[in-house]
Amino acid sequence: MEQTLKGKHIVLGISGGIAAYKSAFLLRLFIKAGAEVQVVITPNGKEFITPATLAALSGKPVVSEFFAANTGEWHSHVDLGLWSDLMVIAPATASTIGKMANGIADNMLITTYLSAKSRVMVAPAMDLDMWAHPSTQRNIATLESYGVEIIMPASGELASHLVGKGRMEEPEIILKRVEEHFSRRESMKGKKILVTAGPTYENIDPVRFIGNYSSGKMGFSIAEEAAARGAEVTLVAGPVSLETKNPRITRIDVRSARQMLEAAVDAFKECDAAILSAAVADYAPESCSDTKLKRENTNGLTIKLVKNPDIAATLGERKGNKILVGFALETDHEHDNAMKKMKNKNLDMIVLNSLQNPLAGFNKDTNQVTVIKACGTEKAYSAKSKRDVARDILDEMESIN
Ligand code: C5P
Repeated sequence: MEQTLKGKHIVLGISGGIAAYKSAFLLRLFIKAGAEVQVVITPNGKEFITPATLAALSGKPVVSEFFAANTGEWHSHVDLGLWSDLMVIAPATASTIGKMANGIADNMLITTYLSAKSRVMVAPAMDLDMWAHPSTQRNIATLESYGVEIIMPASGELASHLVGKGRMEEPEIILKRVEEHFSRRESMKGKKILVTAGPTYENIDPVRFIGNYSSGKMGFSIAEEAAARGAEVTLVAGPVSLETKNPRITRIDVRSARQMLEAAVDAFKECDAAILSAAVADYAPESCSDTKLKRENTNGLTIKLVKNPDIAATLGERKGNKILVGFALETDHEHDNAMKKMKNKNLDMIVLNSLQNPLAGFNKDTNQVTVIKACGTEKAYSAKSKRDVARDILDEMESIN
């Protein structure tokens, strides 16, 4: 087997679900691929697979308790967190996911997670109803917002004999995700990337504006993913309630399309590529009233709107050999409209979000996209979390020369 993980330090976290038996196969795959693996298992995990098996396969004693049973020696989760190049929690039960999302550090696995400086991947495994429960889904969304990579469970027969979503993904697939992680990790090092995200607000008066439902989640996921690949990111964000985590992201908050244009044009000078995911208002009021418009002063109200600048097209005019990626959100003639936009704005690639799919679009945690490139290739992806979509988009962008 190829030594794709040679020299990598992996912390394999195992929590108490029946899928823990598959963790032995996963551990074996990591070791065969050349990784050094430290297993951390929860007390319940030990009911499903013995530490002796895992210690034999990894060649290291398994860590489970805060204190070693016979010597009383304290196991340092901080040291483990620093040692780790990657932490993979497989299987992650609903309880472990809930504790991770809420910082309930009552076992060695969670304390190690909280101290981990490295990337963390989680492969959930549970019964279908537990997976579908709103609390599990909320906790998964929280973990994604912390930058944890979720290896979504597969559908099939579960330990309960019920059939549905909740099976831990197969060890071979988890290994592939881990290999992809290491091959991508530094792939954008030295690159400067501009990302626009969120809506713009166009003021009518001091208390009112024209806006749209964009949450900024897609653009923020792209910014985090590019930073995780080593890029220096400038994120020009409209009004959103999202945080950025990676210190490699420089965030510039703006409100209107004109402010976004100014910040984007300025940042683009220094950048190698721009990904324009903002939902920029097409029109703005011709003027903004200094005082609040009064209802009694008017018989109805007409606000004259003027066209906003097209940021993508402006950058398209000055792009040289930089790479420019845009988005298209269409309700009809999706494909033709996306192609037209790519040409008119001088883009290298356009990401088409379909409003036809209930898992795609504004204010959702998932998206379903088709990526079309100026060179003529096209690929339709299935619905995924926005962080996973961000990965696909950057993989596609990185394949453009
Ligand atoms: O023309 P349309 O708004 O559909 O194009 C969408 C693409 O153009 C997106 O990438 C969006 O961020 C960008 N855009 C822009 N400035 C505008 C309008 C759209 O950068 N004023």
